[in-house]
Amino acid sequence: MSYGDRRIKFALFGLGRLGVLRARILAFQQPRIQLVAVCDTQPGTYKWAAENLLPTRESGAEAVLICTATATHAPLILQALNLNLHVMCEKPVSVDIATTKEVVEKSASRPDLKFLVPFTRRLLDDKSYRQAKALIDNGDLGEIHAVETTGIDQADPNGSTPTTSSLYMEFTDSHTNSVDAGRYLLDVKSGLSSPKKQVNRVIAFGQTAVYQDLNKYGDADNAWGLVEFANGKIFKTYLGRTLTSGFEDTTRLCGTKGHSIISANSNVEIRDHLGIRTQSVPDVFILFDATFLTDLAEFADAVLDDKPLTCQSEDAFEAGKICAALQYSFRKGVPVYFDDNGLPIME
Ligand SMILES: NC(=O)c1ccc[n+]([C@@H]2O[C@H](COP(=O)([O-])OP(=O)(O)OC[C@H]3O[C@@H](n4cnc5c(N)ncnc54)[C@H](O)[C@@H]3O)[C@@H](O)[C@H]2O)c1
Repeated sequence: MSYGDRRIKFALFGLGRLGVLRARILAFQQPRIQLVAVCDTQPGTYKWAAENLLPTRESGAEAVLICTATATHAPLILQALNLNLHVMCEKPVSVDIATTKEVVEKSASRPDLKFLVPFTRRLLDDKSYRQAKALIDNGDLGEIHAVETTGIDQADPNGSTPTTSSLYMEFTDSHTNSVDAGRYLLDVKSGLSSPKKQVNRVIAFGQTAVYQDLNKYGDADNAWGLVEFANGKIFKTYLGRTLTSGFEDTTRLCGTKGHSIISANSNVEIRDHLGIRTQSVPDVFILFDATFLTDLAEFADAVLDDKPLTCQSEDAFEAGKICAALQYSFRKGVPVYFDDNGLPIME
């Protein structure tokens, strides 16, 4: 059934870096969404909301967007589902596999409520990831046997200051979108002897090349992960936060008939007395701005018209398991194998 012009009433949790961007999109750029409430625990956010969003006395939210610090995602999702609300939550569900499983199972027990963890690269309509996926599906590159992703944040002068932000949990948080991109672009489900076991083993390495203080937190400022899927496909992820030129996102598809490079970076070229160079992009919010519109539009269509969602909760669970295993491998200096139930074996 279609609800025609009806708008879904949304509450937003979290007005941090991504939250303020989301708030403006929810308030002014979604014809099928009405923002009815925002909340943040940080002092001063009330003032920001009053000055930047349209005041409303309406409540009766039907859906929530959770854009808070990662550690708060799981309890807020569970609470929202218990309150009969549709839930969209930024990645990751949790940095802990058991908690992620609990959330995924809870959402599965409520098929009447939509649940979406939007993975950025799956939802990039106007950039190259969906085009690359179409190339793969058409067979133009032959069989894709490996995928390599690179995502490097611009160096941050406060990079070694511990904050509540997600930036300081290299594998279990920052790598989630990259790992999901690998799963999206590789066929990781065919040829499995045990359907639950998609991954064979992972290994990870990391460095503190610039921000030495991160050693105290068992974190890295440059990190590499290798994933061998159970059907033999290989995924390599490299994430860093020390690039001085800007944010970079590049993905290589290795196919039996050809390779393809997805470079979502800016193509604006400058020719001046310094030479020829490409203008850089400061962060993910600018480079992937369209994804934060597309995912909300898709979610509204799913709730109002029962349309399908691009990302399933299983994808959040699978990416979460791989990221937890990579984090363990990095910290302990060991490879991590997965058992027949698809769980990483970590002591
Ligand atoms: N998909 C992407 O590309 C992408 C990009 C950036 C961030 N993220 C994810 O989005 C989330 C937010 O990231 P961020 O960079 O905006 O973080 P942030 O630290 O800038 O903002 C988080 C905000 O949540 C608030 N908050 C914490 N607990 C709360 C609670 N219980 N109720 C209400 N508000 C609460 C904090 O006060 C803060 O303002 C993270 O989980 C991150 O992993 C996803």
